[in-house]
Amino acid sequence: MSHAVLVRQTGGPEVLAYEEYDPGPPAAGAARVKVSASGVNFIDVYFRTGLYPADLPIVVGREGAGTVEAVGSGVEGLSPGDRVCWAMVPGSYAEVANVPADSLIAVPSGVPDEAAAAVMLQGMTAHYLVHATRPAVAGDTALVHAAAGGVGLLLIQMLKREGVRVIGTCSTAEKAALAMAAGADQIINYTTDDFVDAVTGWTAGRGVDVVYDSVGESTFEGSLRSLKPRGMMVLFGQSSGPVPSFDLNRLNPLGSLFVTRPSLVHYMRDRAELELRAGAVLSAVADGSLRVRIGQRFALTDAAEAHRALEGRRTSGKVILVG
Ligand SMILES: NC(=O)c1ccc[n+]([C@@H]2O[C@H](COP(=O)([O-])OP(=O)(O)OC[C@H]3O[C@@H](n4cnc5c(N)ncnc54)[C@H](OP(=O)(O)O)[C@@H]3O)[C@@H](O)[C@H]2O)c1
Repeated sequence: MSHAVLVRQTGGPEVLAYEEYDPGPPAAGAARVKVSASGVNFIDVYFRTGLYPADLPIVVGREGAGTVEAVGSGVEGLSPGDRVCWAMVPGSYAEVANVPADSLIAVPSGVPDEAAAAVMLQGMTAHYLVHATRPAVAGDTALVHAAAGGVGLLLIQMLKREGVRVIGTCSTAEKAALAMAAGADQIINYTTDDFVDAVTGWTAGRGVDVVYDSVGESTFEGSLRSLKPRGMMVLFGQSSGPVPSFDLNRLNPLGSLFVTRPSLVHYMRDRAELELRAGAVLSAVADGSLRVRIGQRFALTDAAEAHRALEGRRTSGKVILVG
């Protein structure tokens, strides 16, 4: 019997239950995949706590990589033995998962399953932030919060490739070193220093062109004050908590700012867009131009520990679960 990590009632990490679970044969249009690695993402925390609602029970996780065991009727171009990966499909904290075939991407040879599972969700997120939400302009300056996080380290590399100057924030000297190694130009510890003052000084009072804010509640106000007139606030997460309701009229005196709250699902709307983003990310990993740092590996049985580490700010880069 295979196993999976389920949530039967929302709550703290302790509600993550490792149980016997088998998804059965694949339905029409789906493939049964033996999972070799599952990506851990903050969105998994939101489903576990109930911040994002779901019909319970759920198998947690929405990113992984593995090997096709069987395909359902109507599936073409996939065979048992193929190595595949996916993102934004529920049910990946598992030894076996049934995944819609149109969500599966072939893992390029030379890219280990762990790297594919580590880079799909956060890599495609960094890709749409840099290339679609606000197409990067060489010479611009960006502020990236949680710069040593899973998205953060990938976002820095992609921005630098486009010629953007990157100012990053993080909470420790170790994380600062990782963000600098990824290419950040300046790093500020936002738990000990005022990042708005630092940005003001480093941009000679002009402010940054764009802020990528995945931290939310604790950074949002400072992020707005770090922008230059007509700059763009990209609020794409809430690791410190949700941003309270906001009066849009405030954007005017702050400098006619733009604000967006994007999600990956809206930037992989169809198969073509999924292939574009996944292809760009995986080929960059394959040719070595994008480095994915797996900071922590946990056994599937220790999913609760992985969540404690992620929520406790004790992680850097990517966290994965392995069988
Ligand atoms: N909208 C989208 O399409 C999309 C896609 C992927 C991820 N996201 C969001 O992006 C955010 C980052 O996701 P991730 O998986 O890459 O996580 P992560 O950045 O690897 O981990 C979260 C980091 O946030 C920082 N943080 C600041 N205040 C925190 C607090 N009070 N509690 C916990 N962490 C805090 C910590 O870094 P420091 O210790 O350096 O402060 C922590 O390591 C999440 O909010 C996630 O939901 C959004």
